Amino acid sequence: MKDLIALAGWDGATVQAALELGLDVKRRPAAYGDALAGRTLIMLFEKPSLRTRVSFETGMSQLGGHAIHYDLGGSPLGAGKETVADTARVLSRYVDAIMARLFSHAAIEELARHATVPVINGLTDDAHPTQVLADLLTIQEKKGRLAGLTMAYLGDSRNNVTHSLLAGCARVGMNLRVGCPPDPAFAPAPAVLAAAREAAQATGARLEVVHEARAAADGADVVYTDSWMSYHIDPAEAEARVGALGPYRVDTALMQAARPDAIFMNCLPAQRGVEQTAEVLDGPQSVVFDQAENRLHMHKAVLVLLLRGAEGASR
Ligand code: CP
Ligand code: NVA
Repeated sequence: MKDLIALAGWDGATVQAALELGLDVKRRPAAYGDALAGRTLIMLFEKPSLRTRVSFETGMSQLGGHAIHYDLGGSPLGAGKETVADTARVLSRYVDAIMARLFSHAAIEELARHATVPVINGLTDDAHPTQVLADLLTIQEKKGRLAGLTMAYLGDSRNNVTHSLLAGCARVGMNLRVGCPPDPAFAPAPAVLAAAREAAQATGARLEVVHEARAAADGADVVYTDSWMSYHIDPAEAEARVGALGPYRVDTALMQAARPDAIFMNCLPAQRGVEQTAEVLDGPQSVVFDQAENRLHMHKAVLVLLLRGAEGASR
């Protein structure tokens, strides 16, 4: 387990260990104040970011290390002058870990194959594993458990966050009901769903895809939605997507179909009046800012876990 490219590549025990470490890092930050002293993380970005960029950079300084923000637009790789493999080989001579936010999932897999240091996926078109680890930490804190809970995910589901939620829920035994249009353009990739269902056999998590929003939300402990206009989606598609996904907007009536103590989550950025109403996003059931804060604690845990592992491997 050198890298975090997708939760599908981690087993349930590793996910649980990361969550436990995340809770400890959050509870006792000072105990980790020099955990990564003298270490450097490089953060490669092809897409915008607020939370991922700032929480990883702050996390590295809180762990006693240093982070470099590197916009791939200004790199030889971005200019088509250097390969992913050579970029990975060179970076491995300078830094202790690489975090990358790329369009292509195949590219981050290639980066990890050629890097000798840990590689962390900070979002690709197909997966957002650090987000979902922080989400699971948030649910654990709010509900006191993960196994046996039911999450409803509404909206665009051929989506990095949905894919990572499927893999994450499968590994911790949380049921996931995805509510999305029947059009395959908005449904989880069949291979991702099949792999998650296979992994769920070990925990008993039920992973379902339904096409009626109320049926997805019915009795759920957690209601989750994500942007209908992910970073990689062409802005010209906005009108058609809003039309297709409109029935899955999370509003107060939909929240009432969930349990009365259900929490509302969105990985952010969010658009009020689009994937959820302002009333829900800013309402008493919303935990979106606690969820965003937990990116910081969870990323610190992931860095410590992977860099400790790398230390062991080099001994
Ligand atoms: N949730 C998330 O990854 O946010 P950013 O795009 O701002 O990093
Ligand atoms: N699905 C969204 C997540 C943003 C953090 C996107 O890819 O833009």
